[in-house]
This record gives sequence, C-alpha cells and structure tokens, in this order.
Amino acid sequence: MSSFLPVCSPLLAGKELDYVTQAVSSGWISSSGKYVGEFEKAFAAYCGSKHGIAVCNGTVALHLALTALGIGPGDEIVIPDFTMIASAFAVCYAGAMPVFADADPETWNIAAASAEAKITPRAKAIMPVHIFGNPCDMTALRRIASKHSLALLEDAAEAHGAEFGGKKAGTLADIAAFSFFANKNVTTGEGGMVVTNDDNLASACRYYKNLCFPPDAPREYLHRDIGFNYRMSNLHAAIGLAQTEKANEYRSLRIRNGRLYRERLREIPGIVLQAEQKDGLGVFWMNGVCLRPEVYGRTRGELLARLRENGVDTRVFFNGMHRQPALKKYGCDCAGQYPVSDLLADNGFYLPSGSGLQEADIDRVCALIKEFRRK
Ligand SMILES: Cc1ncc(COP(=O)(O)O)c(C=O)c1O
Repeated sequence: MSSFLPVCSPLLAGKELDYVTQAVSSGWISSSGKYVGEFEKAFAAYCGSKHGIAVCNGTVALHLALTALGIGPGDEIVIPDFTMIASAFAVCYAGAMPVFADADPETWNIAAASAEAKITPRAKAIMPVHIFGNPCDMTALRRIASKHSLALLEDAAEAHGAEFGGKKAGTLADIAAFSFFANKNVTTGEGGMVVTNDDNLASACRYYKNLCFPPDAPREYLHRDIGFNYRMSNLHAAIGLAQTEKANEYRSLRIRNGRLYRERLREIPGIVLQAEQKDGLGVFWMNGVCLRPEVYGRTRGELLARLRENGVDTRVFFNGMHRQPALKKYGCDCAGQYPVSDLLADNGFYLPSGSGLQEADIDRVCALIKEFRRK
C-alpha cells in the first residue's frame, strides 16, 4: 500500500529549530522572551495591520477580542451556524449570546442576508468566519454592520494570508483573531493572535491578556478588572516567527494544491467544491468536498472508508451550532432552520490539505474518488 496521507501535518521548513534552540539556550522560555514581540510585529506586518497581540490559542484570541470590544452579558453576537465550535464558545466565555446565521450555499461562509435577519436590538457585533480560508464577502457584512451600528470581528482562525478586495484577513474588520494550531497555514503548535489597527482595542487586549496588570504603572499588585492569563510563551513565538518568515511560501503551496484539487475533482459528478469568493483570494486551509450521494452513487461513509483503506485520511465537517447540546444548554435559540449548514454537516468532508502535500498525492486521492463513483 502507498504511504499514509494525513489530513494535515505541519510544514516546519524554516528557522523554527534555530529560534527555539536560541530561546532555550538563553533561558527565556516564558512570555517575557524577545520572540513574542518579534513574532507579533512580523505577523501584524504580514497582515498589513498595526498591532498584533499574541496569545496561547485562537479560542482565547476570540474571547480577548470580544472583551476588548466591551461585549458582555445581555449582548448578542451574530455568528455563522456552520463554523467550528470555538467561535460560539468564545462568545459564551464573554457571557454574551451567540445567534446563528445560515451559510451561503456556494461559498459556505455566513450568508449576509441571513446575518442581517438575525439582528435584534440586543445585537452588538457580527463575527464572520473565513471558512476553510475562503474570505467572506466583507463588503456586504461591513455595510450591514454600519447600518445597524455593530462591531465587526473577523474569526480569521483558518485564513492566514487570505485576501478580500486586495486587503488581507486581519484588516477586514475592526479586529480579528487567528489560530496557530498545528494544522494551520502558519503554526506555533498551539497559539493565537489578535490583530487590529485600533490603538485602544490593542491596549485593551494587552491589558486583559495579562491578568489586568496595569501596563505602565509600578507593580503594586492591585487589579482594577478581572483579567486572563492568555500569554504566549517565547518557545511558541520562536516557532511563529520562523513560520511567518515563510508565510508567503506556505500560502503559495496551499493555493497551488487547492487549485490542483479543483482541476481534478471539478468534473466528477456528485463532488461539490466550495466556491471561491468573488474579489477574494482563498488560501485553501482545508480542501472540502460536499458530496451529493444520489449523483455520486455512494454514501459519504462508503467513500471515506474507501479512502481510508487506501491510506487517505479524511475528516467529516463540523456539525452546525444549532445542533450543539452545549449551546442549547447555555440558552441559545437553536430552533431555527439552517438547511445549508445541515447539508454541509451531513455530506461534507476534508481531503488531505497540508502545505507539504505533493502533486502526486493529490493525483492519487483524486483518482480514488473518480474510480469509486458508481455510475
Ligand atoms: C473557525 C475557527 N475559530 C476558532 C478556532 C480556535 O482556534 P484554536 O484551536 O487555536 O483555539 C478554530 C480552530 O481551528 C477555528 O477553525
């Protein structure tokens, strides 16, 4: 059997080991080391943004951004129903209520009309998610946010280097949150960053992420607010800096692989791919397929079993937020209809998508999918 193809493994092809070794030899392994600041500067510059605030994962980056925006109990935040659970949980950590909007059937991102329909007088922000690295239609979302005086927060966890209207993810809203989990296009193993052009939001993030120690005052150990320890260690930042130096290269690899998959899968009946956002540049964090079993002639379970038997790893898509028992228990309104999100959750799966994937790997996966179709 040919070699096993994981859904994603990190590509660590730059100075990661060098920088981590330097951090260890210097003894600076906590968040006080020099790489944290260097990584923040480099990643914010990569996005084209003024500030980067490094934290220990993408989930808390979202929570920190919501806290900086002043979101709290009684507030509603409109999020996509079709997203990873962390988007909703971060809203719960802030004590606010996530409200769900259905996905667009083509791009799989939050549908602007559905988002607007969910706005009530309690709404305080819209949190679009660039699903699988495909940027959202930020013009439409910005218009809705302005019309209803709402903040706009990008969940850019999956979208390092993605662009909309020529601007990078991280600069498309008031504030943005990234994840650097091991499968992301830029990784630190575990890690996250808040990115913003707004000086006040950036200061608030720095304050809350560090237990609300007064930033410039002498350490008297008196705290005016309840803060969080969301600091990133120097070891993680060392990896992040090396990754950021290669971010354009990794982005090109992901885009090349995404395009190869599209060329090879496009013509197979029953295989539906995510439509690329108009005016956008997607970064193909994951290459997703939404199967139409009645056209393909096999169920999703049959196809995934076939791929696994041949050494190809896959993952089914996440379940929508309205299906989540934890969110029902929290008090979210889960009663509405989310037909697109349901269709994706019931029929979707990802293919191997790491930056190190070779063209021959993609050929092998696509050939398996093509020959397994029952005509
Ligand atoms: C859309 C989205 N938001 C938030 C997160 C949370 O990031 P982390 O796993 O770094 O906490 C993820 C993680 O994959 C994600 O996909």
